[in-house]
Amino acid sequence: MRTLIRDLLTATAPAAEIEAAGWVRTRRDSKSFSFLEINDGSCLGSLQVVIDHGIPGSDDLPRMTTGSSVQLVGRLVSSQGGGQSWEMQASAVRLLGIAPEDYPLQKKGHSPEFLRSIAHLRPRTNLYGAMFRLRSRMSQAVHRFFAERAFHYIHTPIITASDCEGAGEMFRVTTLDPSTGAKQKFEDDFFEKAAHLTVSGQLEGEAFACALGRIYTFGPTFRAENSNTSRHAAEFWMIEPEMAFCDLEGDMDLAEEMLKYLVVEALEKQEGDLAIFEKFVDKGLRERLEFVASNPFQRIEYAEAVDILQNSGKAFEYPVEYGHNLQSEHERWLTEEHFQRPVTVFNYPKEIKPFYMRLNDDERTVTAMDLLVPGIGEIVGGSQREERLDMLLANMERHGLSTEEYGWYVDTRKFGSVPHAGFGMGFERLLMFVTGMQNIRDVIPFARTPGHCEF
Ligand code: 4AD
Ligand code: MG
Repeated sequence: MRTLIRDLLTATAPAAEIEAAGWVRTRRDSKSFSFLEINDGSCLGSLQVVIDHGIPGSDDLPRMTTGSSVQLVGRLVSSQGGGQSWEMQASAVRLLGIAPEDYPLQKKGHSPEFLRSIAHLRPRTNLYGAMFRLRSRMSQAVHRFFAERAFHYIHTPIITASDCEGAGEMFRVTTLDPSTGAKQKFEDDFFEKAAHLTVSGQLEGEAFACALGRIYTFGPTFRAENSNTSRHAAEFWMIEPEMAFCDLEGDMDLAEEMLKYLVVEALEKQEGDLAIFEKFVDKGLRERLEFVASNPFQRIEYAEAVDILQNSGKAFEYPVEYGHNLQSEHERWLTEEHFQRPVTVFNYPKEIKPFYMRLNDDERTVTAMDLLVPGIGEIVGGSQREERLDMLLANMERHGLSTEEYGWYVDTRKFGSVPHAGFGMGFERLLMFVTGMQNIRDVIPFARTPGHCEF
């Protein structure tokens, strides 16, 4: 039975007979034996294997080049060389698949741009292997966070007829004519109405929160925004909790608690993977994350944020004006320079927010909140929802939404309406935050951005 290299490297005692398998990182040859460094993806570290020339399979050694796959049998012994506690003394080796000279990941540094062009191979590098193991563990932690708090996990639809954010940035779902492969006319289409890829599972999530109390959805969402930035992707994953009997404050509390929980997860349970980001991406990573985990976030109203920005004396590229969205440079200045910590901005002017947010008593602002973090800007967007039927209907009219199309959503306010609130955290932005990676294309396995859908 194959043992994972992760378990071999952390063994507590030598072992007489073990099996391992993986991809060759490096090979060094001497006169009568060779060293292979093998990685199997289970952890950052590689297993050093000593192969005596003459053991079964060793004739293939010259073809065991970087990237080749091999299977090994042998003993686990304590290592004499520095750098590792254990190594394998092979008794047999088998070459499974060769990697010829044109294997793109020869041992040298590669630019992120080049690695994006080989997104199918980049998880074999140390940095991206660590990235995608961490991504996996962080998703598991998201589910654990909610499970510990009695939230139910709801699978909201990917194909939907509603436009939650009202920004019109949706991909249409259409069918192909099977005989020609050409796009069918919309009128004849499968759903007999316009269907899109979801931009957010919130509206469906609200319906379930108004039945099961506390729910979350965590899945892919899609936006056809043509913003070619380092923090926007056309396909990204969103974590969206929704809570019945909850107000804006409870919502902000949960967002802060969740971000801290996930930061602690990255700090404590990543089995060394975080270290590589600290070494190669952001030297101050651990210190920064520890600060975030153990200090309260700042909370300010939108109007106050505008005030602070306008009096900052800083020459921003985009002017700061009440009634406009904060730009990423503004969000970053607030978190990095001014407060030097995550900041939750709340009570935004109603004109710049979607129809479902609850109107405040001032009748000018809505109970929106955005959580901003240093290095990224907005990582969470959420709100308390408008639970008053007449107010919701007025909003829908103002936003040109048909009460027929959204009749099911209106029902949640018609029948036993309750105050409720929720938010969406961009999972890729979270990963950028906990690794220090600067580009969203480098935290998602196969990035979709304008002009890019290669894999
Ligand atoms: O602020 P947004 O648009 O909020 C919503 O969609 C709400 N319906 C969520 C809710 O209340 N349930 O998006 C939420 C978060 C953003 O703060 C950001 O982190 C991320 O989703 N996000 C993106 N991430 C990557 N690429 C994009 N194009 C993104 N757009 C939003
Ligand atoms: Mg937002």
